[in-house]
Amino acid sequence: MSNQIIIPSIMQIGAKASQEVGVILNGLNYKKPLIITDSMMVKLGYAVKIQKILKVDNINADIFEDTIPEPTVASIQAGVNKVKNGNYDSIIALGGGSPIDSAKAIAILGKFGGVMRDYKFPRIVSETGIPIIAIPTTAGTGSEVTRFTIISDETTDEKMLCVGKGFMPSVALIDYELTISLPKRATADTGIDALTHAMEAYVSKKANPYSDTQALAAMQLIAPNLRRVYHNGNDKEAREKMMLGATLAGVAFSNASVALVHGMSRPIGAFYHVPHGLSNAMLLPAVTEYSIPAATKRYADCSRVMGVALPSDSDEDANQKLLLELSAINEELDVPTPKEFGINKEDFMNNMEIMAEQAIASGSPGNNPRVPEVHEIIDIYKLLW
Ligand SMILES: [Fe+2]
Repeated sequence: MSNQIIIPSIMQIGAKASQEVGVILNGLNYKKPLIITDSMMVKLGYAVKIQKILKVDNINADIFEDTIPEPTVASIQAGVNKVKNGNYDSIIALGGGSPIDSAKAIAILGKFGGVMRDYKFPRIVSETGIPIIAIPTTAGTGSEVTRFTIISDETTDEKMLCVGKGFMPSVALIDYELTISLPKRATADTGIDALTHAMEAYVSKKANPYSDTQALAAMQLIAPNLRRVYHNGNDKEAREKMMLGATLAGVAFSNASVALVHGMSRPIGAFYHVPHGLSNAMLLPAVTEYSIPAATKRYADCSRVMGVALPSDSDEDANQKLLLELSAINEELDVPTPKEFGINKEDFMNNMEIMAEQAIASGSPGNNPRVPEVHEIIDIYKLLW
């Protein structure tokens, strides 16, 4: 039994890693990159800074700044057109998960054509798209090191999961200094997303010895620093650990898959435009409680490595402490309930069946240690109210 592990060929990690972009592009002989980002990155000056660094190495980069949060089929189209007409040899994906996910889709559609739905799971996309140099500015999604992208079909309110090494960036420049200005809410949401990645990778049916090491290290880095970065965004030590933890969590789940939290979270995001990390946070305590009976030892490991339980605690005690901790994190990081977020309860109840069906169709719940039926997913959705 062996496992294939897919990661970027270059990862530059640490303070000022993003400033190596010119040297790295030169080393790879890329001369005509397109920077794919969002308007906030342009406003904050991050995109121009990358352009200036590239200029030093005689590389002129265009900017496409029209990506949106939770990207859709329509939102990526202008980027696809730009790539088709621009003869770019590389794409620099700069920003949080949404610009990076947009860039991944644009890199494949811009080279091979078709529509996003053609590339949706269960198809495995192994084609090599335009190479991507990912520069994350949040410590969360792990998109810089994953073989996934998520693009919403706005006509059906479906978040389409697309999978395969075609979506793996060639290079990831992981520079925690870019996260220091990240607002409080986004810091919390992306941080809980990263914790969820690590936990889900560790309890996933597809977990393997390699992903386990990454997932455990990620939880060890994230758990003690999540509150610190929320309360003090300028805490550089905590920011650095969160960034490394989020990347390792990304490596873990890219090679082991996420599970039920993500499966149930995507439909909430698609129907009610709840930010990805926030819908994960809403679900994490309830889904963990549902799943513990099928992976008692694994969840207890999570609790211990997070520093929540003592090594001497029984698995049962460790898991009780884990559940208390997940709720405490949500409380301290001001995670709203669906009601507090402003979702209409009746509307949510009416959509639960289709949301549960979409969750199962995404494949993620099938990786959960306890695999739910549609009615069980609906029961968990009800627990959020
Ligand atoms: Fe996620």
